[in-house]
Amino acid sequence: MTPMLNPIVRTLVAAATLFVAAMSAQAQGVTGDVEAGHKKAEMCIGCHGIKGYQNSFPEIHKVPMISGQSAGYIVSALKAYNKGDRKHPSMRGIAGSLSEQDMADLAAFYASQSGPAAPEALPAASADVSALLQKGACVSCHGANLSKPIDPSYPKVAGQHADYLYVALKAYTVEGNKVIGRSNGIMGGIAKQFSHDEMRALAKYLATVPGELQTVPQSRFR
Ligand code: HEC
Ligand code: HEC
Repeated sequence: MTPMLNPIVRTLVAAATLFVAAMSAQAQGVTGDVEAGHKKAEMCIGCHGIKGYQNSFPEIHKVPMISGQSAGYIVSALKAYNKGDRKHPSMRGIAGSLSEQDMADLAAFYASQSGPAAPEALPAASADVSALLQKGACVSCHGANLSKPIDPSYPKVAGQHADYLYVALKAYTVEGNKVIGRSNGIMGGIAKQFSHDEMRALAKYLATVPGELQTVPQSRFR
């Protein structure tokens, strides 16, 4: 942790570290099965299995790549849609139809479809982007190369689609809207420090970082 972090970020990073310790102490109830997840993914491929597939809500952006994402984060995101902490209507509908076992199986399957391991180091960023990465302490939670989160329930963000990352960052700042927004104690505090232009610059850089996320087209499923 760098000594230059501002107090908000310092508190969030400290809280995240405690949270990670608490999570690791918790017994994992449900174990995912890759093969079972493969079958269940039939209902996901119409969006997540098509390269460049776009969603138009709340604005046009590519659907996130979930192949190669951490299993713990996939489960955590699905639970957040299910609970309503994440408001995206179509994903809420889908997550609402899944049992805990379905979520664990799907997460195991998608995590197993990782691209090659990401390089250890981040590519050079402009001075402006470096300052933003520093201000938000992104690597202290998402990992030195943004593909090695400090906890399995945190996402890999390297190489994700820029337009999606921008929509996701903005979503953490939306409050009191029934169909848009993500309520998350950690990323809310981080995202609220940035203007939309700054979020766009961060998203654009993150998308250029080589990562492990990918879209595995439908044909390669069978
Ligand atoms: C109708 C299209 C559609 C279908 C079908 C669909 N998704 Fe999604 N999914 C999306 C969109 C759009 C988002 C981004 C939502 C947001 O902005 O929060 C998303 C987000 C996600 C996320 C969060 C990704 C992240 O990086 O935070 C996960 C995990 C996910 N979907 C898993 C699934 C699984 C598993 C299935 C099948 C059971 C599925 N989705 C089916 C469109 C779809
Ligand atoms: C204190 C820990 C922490 C820090 C610092 C942090 N993040 Fe996050 N980030 C998280 C967690 C936890 C989540 C998952 C939140 C959720 O479940 O919706 C997340 C989610 C995200 C997402 C959504 C990813 C997706 O697939 O939907 C993006 C984008 C993101 N962070 C970018 C950043 C950027 C850029 C920075 C630095 C400016 C940053 N984060 C700093 C912990 C952190």
